[in-house]
Amino acid sequence: MSAAPQPSVTVRVPAKVNVQLAVGGRRPDGFHDLANVFFAVALGDEVTATPADTLRITVSGPDADQVPTDDSNLAARAARLLARHHGLRPDVHLHIAKDIPVAGGMAGGSADGAAALVACDALWGTGTPRDVLLDLAAELGSDVPFALLGGVALGHGRGEILRPLPVGGTFHWVFAVADGGLSTPAVFRECDRLRDEAGTGSDTASVPDPQADPVLLRALADGDPAALAAALTNDLQAAALSLRPALAATLRAGADGGAIGTLVSGSGPTCAFLAKDAESAVSVAEALAASGTCRSVRVTHGPVPGAAVTTAD
Ligand code: C5P
Repeated sequence: MSAAPQPSVTVRVPAKVNVQLAVGGRRPDGFHDLANVFFAVALGDEVTATPADTLRITVSGPDADQVPTDDSNLAARAARLLARHHGLRPDVHLHIAKDIPVAGGMAGGSADGAAALVACDALWGTGTPRDVLLDLAAELGSDVPFALLGGVALGHGRGEILRPLPVGGTFHWVFAVADGGLSTPAVFRECDRLRDEAGTGSDTASVPDPQADPVLLRALADGDPAALAAALTNDLQAAALSLRPALAATLRAGADGGAIGTLVSGSGPTCAFLAKDAESAVSVAEALAASGTCRSVRVTHGPVPGAAVTTAD
């Protein structure tokens, strides 16, 4: 007689691009106040939770060897945090099927943290209220709450205070994945350094409060790709380009290939290209692949929902 199959829960979670990333001054706690418009795209990871004797992380996918499987993995930290909240032991095997570029500025690690929260909550039957899950997510990292929420949202504070935004249609994106990642803290530090070097200062007294751009919010609500393309901004882009000058050629190749909007995704080094429609996205991707300025190219769309259970048995 064979043993009964182990129950398991699989959660799919999206990557994000920031269509606006306005960075305020460095706060006394080292973080930066942001006006951050998150946009969830169909490129995503899957996290499967299965009961186990102890907490264990495994990873599959082309970049699996770059993902830590110790406690620095946000999925492991999420399982521990949720278990502690409910007075349980975090005895779970979390398998991450990794498709989001690693250290790429698309919140892949944060996505896995959000997915692990949802997967463990379902596996353990703990029924954690949504607002509590969002608070736990914010403890894990600035981008984790958005991965729970999905869609498009405006983030304030360090990015964790979220307001969902209306969106009037589907937008088509191409992502150029770079060789190697960039460290988010290093990119924020470089942003501060560039501001100090320019003489404007980098603390909260020197940098104006970041504000969402009403023109960009209108473009999203209207589902208007040309208007959104014209409004895309990322205050971390100069810092990412300073640390990785080769990204300028990637951005140029996408623009030459027909993208209507180009920007570095979050803290980079992944570059994001907005296309006017699905067909144009394919030709932008072909041009980027032919340019030899990136490691790989992904065509996708959005917005899509946040972390959600796909299968449970
Ligand atoms: O919150 P999270 O752990 O994802 O942030 C990673 C790092 O990015 C922080 O330690 C900080 O250096 C930087 N950061 C920041 N301001 C933010 C978000 C992140 O300076 N709003």
